[in-house]
Amino acid sequence: MAENIIEVLNISKHYGQNETRVIAVKSISVKFKEGEFTAIAGPSGSGKTTLLNLMSGLDVPSDGQVLLAGKAVSEMSGNELSDFRRDHIGLIFQSFNLIPVLTAAENIEYIMLLQGINKDERIEKTLLILKDVGLEGKADRFPAELSGGQQQRVAVARAIVSDPDIIMADEPTANLDSATGSGLIDIMKKLNEKMGKTFIFSTHDKMIMDRAKRLIVIKDGEIVSDETA
Ligand SMILES: Nc1ncnc2c1ncn2[C@@H]1O[C@H](COP(=O)(O)OP(=O)(O)OP(=O)(O)O)[C@@H](O)[C@H]1O
Ligand SMILES: [Mg+2]
Repeated sequence: MAENIIEVLNISKHYGQNETRVIAVKSISVKFKEGEFTAIAGPSGSGKTTLLNLMSGLDVPSDGQVLLAGKAVSEMSGNELSDFRRDHIGLIFQSFNLIPVLTAAENIEYIMLLQGINKDERIEKTLLILKDVGLEGKADRFPAELSGGQQQRVAVARAIVSDPDIIMADEPTANLDSATGSGLIDIMKKLNEKMGKTFIFSTHDKMIMDRAKRLIVIKDGEIVSDETA
């Protein structure tokens, strides 16, 4: 049995006070095992981004706890949290978020550089992952010289190359056309199968959610269904 890589224990998040109070996440408890490939779906405003941000430590819960690889993410702060996130979590964003002045290869190498990995190993890993995401030969391109789909594949490569426990992506396909978005999810799935990495991504695109192995649907901050194919 694979172990739980993330345990979300009764977390809630509310914003504002009194009449402006919004409960974005309501007492959610959920566990993710190592190697899962999960989509979190739900309508706009249902709490997908809030839940992902709470799990990655980008946001702090009003109540409850998140354990990632056995550590309480929600109780760390400052350098401890940023170092932990750097080493354990790979993030992919809707808007790619590549560093524009760095090439594809340099964007991918960057976190390994911060981790103190030597140059030879960085180059070797970068070339291998570029091949895995189908960008062989594009190492020296700058983000502006790549299509949106190619930029997001660089972002996937960047997220996984530092060997995190989990990769989280908030609507990674929202800025891509449907075919490019599906292709991106297929690459993520291939990496999930090849490297055994755990992926959690959000979407409100039916075609994208159909590609997940586990589908969690949230509505008004609560899980309304959780099914594994
Ligand atoms: N910083 C904030 N301040 C106040 N309310 C917020 C804040 N962030 C989110 N919310 C509210 O929390 C609820 C959940 O928002 P969230 O962004 O998590 O939804 P979502 O499912 O990601 O939506 P979308 O599909 O549009 O990205 C919404 O009602 C939203 O307006
Ligand atoms: Mg969102």
